[in-house]
Amino acid sequence: MIDVIPSGQACGATVTGVDLSTALDAATIRTLREAWLQHHVLAFPDQDLADIDLERFVLSFGVFGSEPFFRPIPGSEHIVALTRRADETAPLFAENWHSDWSFLAQPPIGTCLYSLVIPPVGGNTGFINQQRALAEMPTALRERLEGRTALHSAGAAYAPDGMYGEKDRAAGRSMAIHFSEEAREVCGHPFIIRHPESGRETLLGCLGYIMGVQGMPDDEALELLLELHAWQTREEFQYTHQWQENMLVLWDNRSVLHRAYGGYDGYDRILHRITVGGDTRKFISLDLA
Ligand SMILES: [Fe+2]
Repeated sequence: MIDVIPSGQACGATVTGVDLSTALDAATIRTLREAWLQHHVLAFPDQDLADIDLERFVLSFGVFGSEPFFRPIPGSEHIVALTRRADETAPLFAENWHSDWSFLAQPPIGTCLYSLVIPPVGGNTGFINQQRALAEMPTALRERLEGRTALHSAGAAYAPDGMYGEKDRAAGRSMAIHFSEEAREVCGHPFIIRHPESGRETLLGCLGYIMGVQGMPDDEALELLLELHAWQTREEFQYTHQWQENMLVLWDNRSVLHRAYGGYDGYDRILHRITVGGDTRKFISLDLA
């Protein structure tokens, strides 16, 4: 019997009573999807999964997402490894809040992460509920976002001169990052979207991948993005996830931001990840809905 236990924080729930190493029936998938839309982040502890199980689980939620800047692991076209060696000195990966690949025209609807090696300390993942952040947003800030288009780009991260570009590779990072000039491409999404499945309004993305505002001078845009970032990352909207080995976590990129935490120098950490594509409709802005 499936049990969904809310984290007690702003989002997130732990799910027990389901074995993800076998194919799931339609009723189970429906139950899990409803829980996912309600809690935004689902953690499934004590799952003994091979890569093929991870792929099958993703296909029960959507299709395989693309990985524009990671090389997949040998033997899989879709799984990437998030790794950090005990002796690694490159800066922590993904320490800034973001929604995965939000600069794509069709960003992944979710991300699935399975833990293989987890350090005894540190290495949490932070999530922030962007539906709550929007629901509780001061009217004056919201009015500055309504009808506006955020300009997303991976340039600051994955261009050759970006955070994970040539210099980072020289620093000996263990992850298989494939930086590229294509990272400079820019894609616009509304700041405020209607979640395609739940119908609830939500914020999409934040400063980082969002690097400008359409039709707004850069200095004014930066001021707005910083103010938005300060609001949407407030502690009361957060859920801090603590990992165990053999745990699968699935989150909704359309309704949460996430980031990595360090604090585990001297320990290895290995997770396998697949992004979930699926809803091919472009994000719907509120004024069009
Ligand atoms: Fe991420």
